[in-house]
Amino acid sequence: MITLTNISKKVGSRLLFENINVSFNPGKHYGLTGPNGSGKSTLMKIMMGKEEANEGTVSLPRKVGFLEQNIEKFKDQDVISTVIMGNRRLWEALQERDSLYTQEINDAMGIRLGELEEIIAEENGYSAESEAEELLTGMGIASSLHSKKMHEIPSDSQFRALLCQALFGEPDALLLDEPTNHLDMESIGWLEQFLVNYKGVLIVISHDRHFLNTVTTHIADIDYETVIIYTGNYDQMVIAKTSVRTRAEEENKSKDKKISQLQEFVSRFGAGTRASQVQSRIREINRLQPLELKKSNIQRPYIRFYPPEKPSGQMVIQAESVSKSYGSHSVISNFSLEILRGEKIGVIGNNGRGKSTLLKMLAAALKQDSGKLELGHQVQLGYFPQNHSDIIDKKKNLTIFDWLKTQKEGVYDQDVRSVLGKMLFGGDDAFKPVAHLSGGETARLIFAGMMLCNYNFLILDEPNNHLDLEAVAALSWALEDFKGTVIMASHDRVLLDEVATKIVAFEEDGIHIFKGPLEEYLTS
Ligand SMILES: Nc1ncnc2c1ncn2[C@@H]1O[C@H](COP(=O)(O)OP(=O)(O)OP(=O)(O)O)[C@@H](O)[C@H]1O
Ligand SMILES: [Mg+2]
Repeated sequence: MITLTNISKKVGSRLLFENINVSFNPGKHYGLTGPNGSGKSTLMKIMMGKEEANEGTVSLPRKVGFLEQNIEKFKDQDVISTVIMGNRRLWEALQERDSLYTQEINDAMGIRLGELEEIIAEENGYSAESEAEELLTGMGIASSLHSKKMHEIPSDSQFRALLCQALFGEPDALLLDEPTNHLDMESIGWLEQFLVNYKGVLIVISHDRHFLNTVTTHIADIDYETVIIYTGNYDQMVIAKTSVRTRAEEENKSKDKKISQLQEFVSRFGAGTRASQVQSRIREINRLQPLELKKSNIQRPYIRFYPPEKPSGQMVIQAESVSKSYGSHSVISNFSLEILRGEKIGVIGNNGRGKSTLLKMLAAALKQDSGKLELGHQVQLGYFPQNHSDIIDKKKNLTIFDWLKTQKEGVYDQDVRSVLGKMLFGGDDAFKPVAHLSGGETARLIFAGMMLCNYNFLILDEPNNHLDLEAVAALSWALEDFKGTVIMASHDRVLLDEVATKIVAFEEDGIHIFKGPLEEYLTS
């Protein structure tokens, strides 16, 4: 069981939550939900002991698996060891044993070795490697990669290896912050099955509705500066939450009406002879005080991309026999594509097949090995990279406001302000350092930059990762409404269905171009 007692947390001047008292019980699977910036990651870090609460305590079971966010930390480890590190006790015992064996053994060391062997046996150390391999294979990482160093394998595989690390060693509790962000549909399916069968306490943060509905039995929703637990999956929570809210609002309305009737009586007869009746009505008014309803934190940003007045030429970009390899691994070979003005293209396919490579080359963020790429007349290109830190350097000490000003030369402060408001950065938020932003807030900031810049060609690489459902809906509207040209990679079927009129599909047998929406492509 995981128990939070009296947890409160403030960041800067803002109160994220106050006095949280909840327990998460074994065998139950909780989705931790709330809009971008509501404090989900912060709360999970408090549970993991990686961040301090201002008040309160957390109690955890002995073995907790969690998803590491910092890939860098493991770059020189081999993949198998990275997974085994998920069991700290085992990993430390193995390390110590190995280092003892390199020395000459004395009596004390002999005794220590005996203790270590015991720990290793207790933690199933002798089957650790095979267990780790099984997880890696399940997660779609070929066995030829298992003994490579982390930095030698593609970055989406690194994320998967970290996920295996969290799942390794049968933890009693599992804490996962957005585990599906770097997974394709196939691996998401595998993870869903794994989690559905998982016997311990699961707490998972995700903005993927389908995933949440599949794996959760309960929802812990962050809102009204606290955490409320609902029984059921995400869709059931939304229904329950709205009905609780509507009921409270209606009760308040009828109380208001009653109060104003009583008030009228009091003011009419207050000075007169009916003193006792007036007194009883005053008491009644005090009793009826409507509950103060805290505002819900659910908000939708307003995203709109306005192209410049002069449209681009008919041909927006032309790729001719483009090829790209990494070392001996050929990712794209002899690929040709013409993108015409007004086209909205969806790019789909499993991870590692080269979607991001293609988009990077189109955005001129990566050079092709051979072939020709030609940008059309008057094309203004905006690029949303899969890895946000490619364009927002969190190590530089910039505020939100300053970063936006770097995006467009000579931009007026008031225009920056207006775009910030639309993207839900109100008041002092403008002066928040970009280093503090949550995943979803960072994505919103990149959109804010794109809104300022009047592009007519948008290249978007999984822009919906990290975004909450309200923001994905806003993005979908914006792209449908956009008068320019779009090419977007995504695993979000709903988003693609709404936006894309043409599909570029990275399949096992090569890249297919299909004129028509995703649904038609999938049935064809
Ligand atoms: N050191 C800090 N100083 C000020 N504000 C901070 C700091 N660290 C985090 N925040 C803010 O706290 C809020 C909660 O951040 P957190 O990362 O927990 O959000 P989240 O719910 O996980 O969001 P997302 O869905 O986008 O991942 C955000 O508004 C963030 O900008
Ligand atoms: Mg987060």
